[in-house]
Amino acid sequence: MGQLFPGPLSSGRVCLRRLEAGDAEALCHYRSLPEVARYQSWESFGPNDAESLIHDHRDREPGIPGTWFQMAIVESATGCMIGDCGLRCLIDDPRQMELGVTLATSHQGRGYATEALGCLLDFVFGTLGAHRVSAVTDADNARSAALFKRLGFRQEAHFIENIWFKGQWGSEFKFALLRREWELRQAG
Ligand SMILES: CC(C)(COP(=O)(O)OP(=O)(O)OC[C@H]1O[C@@H](n2cnc3c(N)ncnc32)[C@H](O)[C@@H]1OP(=O)(O)O)[C@@H](O)C(=O)NCCC(=O)NCCS
Repeated sequence: MGQLFPGPLSSGRVCLRRLEAGDAEALCHYRSLPEVARYQSWESFGPNDAESLIHDHRDREPGIPGTWFQMAIVESATGCMIGDCGLRCLIDDPRQMELGVTLATSHQGRGYATEALGCLLDFVFGTLGAHRVSAVTDADNARSAALFKRLGFRQEAHFIENIWFKGQWGSEFKFALLRREWELRQAG
């Protein structure tokens, strides 16, 4: 199901595009903030991390089993990169995907993440033809859980202390959404 990324995906106030060489500064700026990194896989995020993320994505395309495809979230009105979102195609079933998202704190609380992931879901279900999309959030990450519920994801699991995360046991929620559920929601 691997497919060339068709260029910027637009939706109202945001658009999603490939990572570009000039994104390193913005990536570092928001990903290095402790409140942004708190529930993410990284402890710190510096220029080298940004450069290697961008470099790794030079020839990458979405829908390749076992890989993440990370995109920039750009505010349409200003052209500024305000976050990033990622799509992982499951290695054993390319019809299933996982989502992740990170927004600069300066642009949280305005519905931008909801719009960006809505746009991504249209692409994933419509263009890539995925059957099911899931997301895993730290059980303490209330904003992230609220985001996926707002988009219509069902909470399928609450794992208790299932992961050793940043020096302590962490608990996680698993959310999922089927293509038919997304289509029904869009039609309503
Ligand atoms: C997870 C994350 C992206 C959620 O960001 P967010 O700003 O809460 O989500 P949105 O951009 O969709 O904004 C929703 C908020 O804007 C408000 N809002 C304002 N205008 C809105 C609009 N037009 N549409 C929707 N919501 C709107 C909503 O009421 C909501 O506010 P509330 O939470 O106070 O009720 C953000 O917290 C983040 O980047 N965290 C750090 C990284 C992280 O942990 N990522 C999750 C990994 S799975």
